[in-house]
Order: sequence, then C-alpha cells, then structure tokens
Amino acid sequence: MVLAKTFSSRLCFARDVFRGALKFMSYYQQHVFFCTNLRDNARKSCQQCDAQAARDYVKQRCKTLFPDPHAIRINSAGCLNRCKRGPVLVIYPQGVWYRYDNQRDLDDIIDQHLQKGEVVERLLLPASVTS
Ligand code: FES
Repeated sequence: MVLAKTFSSRLCFARDVFRGALKFMSYYQQHVFFCTNLRDNARKSCQQCDAQAARDYVKQRCKTLFPDPHAIRINSAGCLNRCKRGPVLVIYPQGVWYRYDNQRDLDDIIDQHLQKGEVVERLLLPASVTS
C-alpha cells in the first residue's frame, strides 16, 4: 500500500514536470486547430458548416491582431472526433474546445480567449466530450 502511494505520487510529480516542460517548449503561445473535415457520406462533418471559411476569417483577423509570428497559429485540421458537436475548434496549450455557429462566435473567441485569455463559457463543448 505504501509502495503504491509512493509510486502514485512520483507519477503525479513526473506528470506535472512534463506538463510544465511542454508549456515552456511551446513554439506558439496559442495554437488553434479548426476541424475542416468534409465527409462524402451522410455523417455530419464540420466543413458542411463552412469551417474552412471560418478558419480563414480567424486567420486573417489574427494576422493583424498578433504581429509576433510566435504569438498565435491558426491551422486547419482533419476530423477532431467531435463531429456531432461541430463545427469545432480547439486551442492549445490550454486544450480548450469550442463550438461556433457564426461570425459573432468567432469574434468572441478572438476577442475574449485569444486576446484576453478569458474562456468563452457559452461556446465551450461539454467536459464530457473533451476530457
Ligand atoms: S468532422 Fe469535425 S470533428 Fe469530426
């Protein structure tokens, strides 16, 4: 029992050190991934909601807002496996997942999350599908 607790606490310590190192090593301060996947079958996919145009809009706005090339990166991604909740995006290193519906949602993500570091609660995916 004592041995298991010692091992568990060392494992937690190693996990925390690893997470700290990842933050330190992050090339971009914030890295945004838009799912732009399009399926050719009946299953829902993010590109059916014009996800590429949403990604292009956010990228264009961020170019002017964040002139430092290490500050932020906006990328397209394949399926992020949250298809029923889409269209979705995720922001690292925080690992915050959002669903968006319109330009106002995208502007709120840019203005609140990316610029101020405040989570946009109303657009969060439920924790049950992100952890
Ligand atoms: S198609 Fe976008 S998360 Fe799967």
